[in-house]
Amino acid sequence: MRFSAKWRNGFGLFGFRLFPLPPGERAGVRGMRRGSDVAARASSPGGVGSVTLVGAGPGDPDLLTVAAVKALAAADVVLFDHLVGDGILDLAPPTAERICVGKRSGRHSLPQEQINTLMSQQALLGRRVVRLKGGDPMIFGRAGEEIDHLDALGIPVRVIPGITAALGCAASAGLSLTKRGVSRAVTFVTAHGRDGERFEPDWARLADPQGTLAIYMGREQARAVGAGLTGAGLPADTPVLAVENGCRPDERRFWTTLGAMAADGVAAGKGPTLLLIGEALRAREAANDLAGVGAVMMAGE
Ligand SMILES: C[S@@+](CC[C@H](N)C(=O)[O-])C[C@H]1O[C@@H](n2cnc3c(N)ncnc32)[C@H](O)[C@@H]1O
Repeated sequence: MRFSAKWRNGFGLFGFRLFPLPPGERAGVRGMRRGSDVAARASSPGGVGSVTLVGAGPGDPDLLTVAAVKALAAADVVLFDHLVGDGILDLAPPTAERICVGKRSGRHSLPQEQINTLMSQQALLGRRVVRLKGGDPMIFGRAGEEIDHLDALGIPVRVIPGITAALGCAASAGLSLTKRGVSRAVTFVTAHGRDGERFEPDWARLADPQGTLAIYMGREQARAVGAGLTGAGLPADTPVLAVENGCRPDERRFWTTLGAMAADGVAAGKGPTLLLIGEALRAREAANDLAGVGAVMMAGE
């Protein structure tokens, strides 16, 4: 579905106007503890603006929340990451300033401190700032650092959650991450160290035969993940699904096993790639995921 111009003009699908409430009148508003004066200035001309951290989901605009669409429609300025899917930025008014602050594996076009400063500068100019992040802002999104920075300056900040990559990719592949009698836990973990630092996960803790792992930023580390988990006792035939560009028109899925991944890595390209690992995947692996959308490949093809 593509959103029509009426979204951008502030009208919703059901014909009502999407008036954003002033900061402080919604659940999830932060920065109000300094008193209502901040909220008052936030909505008065020349006063402090506000920042809304918005989860853009994994890529498909249809997976945005209604709150995200409203926040975008009301934005004066949008600071966005590379991972934000096509079509989502179009939901901001044409007059809204759009600033790409980058962030893609290994390529941070703006250091986090500069993103923080840019956000607060814009808000202090009295603007409604939307900080648009791929997936959910609170999952491997450095939202905590941004919230701390804004809190310290007394700038109202609100968070609108998004669908994180693990949930989007699982849904896209028709996978249930929990399964009665098979998987009773789901773990979101990154295989990526801070700013390129080497990172050695606690493989023994992660190698739960009754759990499902969702590994973010894991493509480059796929061999190490396979070796680490089999070394910690998971069977070599444990199913693995790598989803590249999940929930986008160019989504690709690569099935493999932990043993094969330890030897060969995953065949995914340069798009954002999520690894799903565990016995809960076995039924879909057996069906070879042929009913799903997107290209279906076996590792090594
Ligand atoms: C810095 S993390 C950001 C995660 C994001 N906040 C979320 O909740 O999905 C970036 C990693 O998320 C995963 N990712 C994000 N979008 C994805 C997508 N559309 N398909 C597959 N993986 C994705 C990849 O592992 C990528 O390297």
